[in-house]
Amino acid sequence: TPPNQPYRTSYHFQPPQNWINGILNRPMVYKGLYHLFYQYNPKGAVWGNIVWAHSTSKDLVNWTPHDPAIFPSQESDINGCWSGSATILPNGKPVILYTGINPQNQQVQNYAEPKNLSDPFLREWVKLPHNPVMAPTQANQINASSFRDPTTAWLGPDKRWRVIIGSKKNRRGLAILYRSKDFVYWVKAKHPLHSGKGTGMWECPDFFPVSVDGQVGVATSVIDNKVKHVLKYSLDDTKHDYYTIGTYNFALDKYIPDKGFVDSYSGLRYDYGKFYASKTFFDDIKNRRILWGWVNESSSVNDDIKKGWSGVQAIPRTIWLDKYGKQLIQWPIPEIEKLRLNMVNLSNKLLKGGSKLQISNVQALQADVEVSFKVSGFEKAEKLDPSWTDPQMLCSRKGASVKGGLGPFGLYVLASKGLEEYTAVFFRIFKSNEKYVVLMCSDQSRSSLNEDNDKTTYGAFLNVDPVYETLSLRTLIDHSIVESFGGKGKACITARVYPTLAIGYGANLFAFNNGNQDVQITSLKAWNMKKAMIY
Ligand code: FRU
Repeated sequence: TPPNQPYRTSYHFQPPQNWINGILNRPMVYKGLYHLFYQYNPKGAVWGNIVWAHSTSKDLVNWTPHDPAIFPSQESDINGCWSGSATILPNGKPVILYTGINPQNQQVQNYAEPKNLSDPFLREWVKLPHNPVMAPTQANQINASSFRDPTTAWLGPDKRWRVIIGSKKNRRGLAILYRSKDFVYWVKAKHPLHSGKGTGMWECPDFFPVSVDGQVGVATSVIDNKVKHVLKYSLDDTKHDYYTIGTYNFALDKYIPDKGFVDSYSGLRYDYGKFYASKTFFDDIKNRRILWGWVNESSSVNDDIKKGWSGVQAIPRTIWLDKYGKQLIQWPIPEIEKLRLNMVNLSNKLLKGGSKLQISNVQALQADVEVSFKVSGFEKAEKLDPSWTDPQMLCSRKGASVKGGLGPFGLYVLASKGLEEYTAVFFRIFKSNEKYVVLMCSDQSRSSLNEDNDKTTYGAFLNVDPVYETLSLRTLIDHSIVESFGGKGKACITARVYPTLAIGYGANLFAFNNGNQDVQITSLKAWNMKKAMIY
């Protein structure tokens, strides 16, 4: 890393320069190659001039860049080529549906397909001359400034394709449903697939089946009693990705969330930190469903312009339904472990109340750390006040330096030697009636001496019973990103940080315990991560 670029990542996807967002317009796999398309500004480090940049990979770790796949070239997309998705048709042909901005600045949906199907890189895409294939009209009452981001289509048992497009009507978020027999001529359904009161605009919706039994992924068109369906949307208002789990009633062509799942700001999230406009795709090479998300900067626009880039992609995650059907589980794809070098391995280390332990011999700037804790002395757990229902709020009130009974304990990452700077990823255990509640936090408040950054603390409740289960944490550290997975993927928190001292050889890694009860590190493994070949 050049000294003037301490925040560029080494194994997260990012182009050499400029703005990225909306991430994946749609990841897909074709002829054994993974394709990543992403929203990109070829002219600067802020949003604008949006095209679909394109890279391919054999392993989802190392990437080869190509020229932009889709860029403004016809009336229906002359003011921008926004998000969309690819669908692989039964004959193997990939087709992209994407949002174009027309000369009236209306959002319309367009069709593109590869020029040459024998090119595994699918470098050139051609558009239908009569685009758009879906547009707001007087008759359909669609809001022309809130009609975007078509999903991957699914084929119903009636041989008709279906696709949803994100929208809103007043404050109601909408998944507008369209159907087609030939993928070219699309008819709007009378009812949306689903809608949610009071949420505002649904950006980048995603609708897919998950197996009720195990981690194996399911192709997008599967509808049977061995799957549940997931509807995810990105709320423009809060900039978070929310999901519900439910049933796709094919007879009514409606999605119905299961009892207990809500369409609201307090709904379940893929990630309780920074992670937006994500999408999944079914990887038929390895029979898994993979989730990719975009992680924006937390630095000032001025700093983004100075460093010349903005936005990275999170590490792709395999995603599946937990065994009780109550939430999704996410775990970094195993391919990323190819980058691991020089394991440091500790086991059965007592972490006394009020102590810290430096993990040396790790290149703390780009590392993969897995730690598990065994907790005892549950009578020391602090009581959970019934009004503490917002985990993020609780983590900001009780940051890493606020001493407790059971916890806070966890990791200081991207920490300067004297702890002038650190990002703390940790747990705190509370008692609520006769049960224990685990809070997972990522505290950025001390991450940088530079005050221009957004240092909001993030938090999530972790559905693990600490009396019977070990409490585990995996954290992927890469210069300015910290991606944490609690309870083997039950809660994920991604943060962006910009240390001024904890850069280069100034970055350190510690385990810490600021509770008054000792905890046992049953195992801690840390690896240096090699640099991925990204351009
Ligand atoms: C998501 C998003 C999409 C839109 C695109 C524009 O971040 O706002 O709704 O299609 O980005 O770049």
